[in-house]
Amino acid sequence: MPSSPIRKLAPFADAAKKEGVQVYHLNIGQPDIETPHIMMEAVQHANLKVLEYTDSRGILSLRKKLAAYYISKGMDVNYEDVLITIGGSEAILFAFMACLDEGDEIIVPEPFYANYIGFAMAAGIHIIPITSSITNGFALPPIASFQEKITPRTKGIFICNPNNPTGYVYSESELLQIRDLIKEKDLYLFSDEAYTEFSYEGNVKSTLTLQGVADRVIMIDTFSKKNLHKQD
Ligand SMILES: Cc1ncc(COP(=O)(O)O)c(C=O)c1O
Repeated sequence: MPSSPIRKLAPFADAAKKEGVQVYHLNIGQPDIETPHIMMEAVQHANLKVLEYTDSRGILSLRKKLAAYYISKGMDVNYEDVLITIGGSEAILFAFMACLDEGDEIIVPEPFYANYIGFAMAAGIHIIPITSSITNGFALPPIASFQEKITPRTKGIFICNPNNPTGYVYSESELLQIRDLIKEKDLYLFSDEAYTEFSYEGNVKSTLTLQGVADRVIMIDTFSKKNLHKQD
């Protein structure tokens, strides 16, 4: 397993801090948003005698609330489709493990979030990168370049929208092109939408709004990048 390239930098930052150097952590996706007091209070004052196992799909009320949150953003989702994991990382790993077999391939526009490499390795699958270009702001590479990479082992396309690290937000027409491709080639679409609340030019169109592919789209999201102050 490769170590996380992001975490690799942590000891250097710690050493620099010890020497009194001011460090700006541009390497880790840690939003500087205060955790809502109501949440911290609920944790501190939880009146539980035994911290019990819960439903392995997640607490029902949380799944229902999340479904309502996604529906309010125009997504077609039922609470029964929502599974709770320990963050986005575990969700990506579980999605790979659930949908793919050892040796399968997924096509991923690069540059991409470096930890995908470790998750793919843990699941025994291969990432086939397609380079996006700085000259057009890292837009979706032409669909023909995806088609060229498709082999009998290709089982899915993986996108990150908004993209980490490029910040690129896929347009509706790009998402529709991906939708048509996954339908035509019988592929899964894994969509990491962790950063949807960090879009500054209107709403990000989720893959869960795409018609006709609900049975093959896995959307991954995480509380670690949510601005909970924006919701009620
Ligand atoms: C694009 C992207 N996806 C997934 C994750 C992992 O999310 P989590 O920290 O909830 O495991 C991160 C974390 O930085 C990320 O940047």
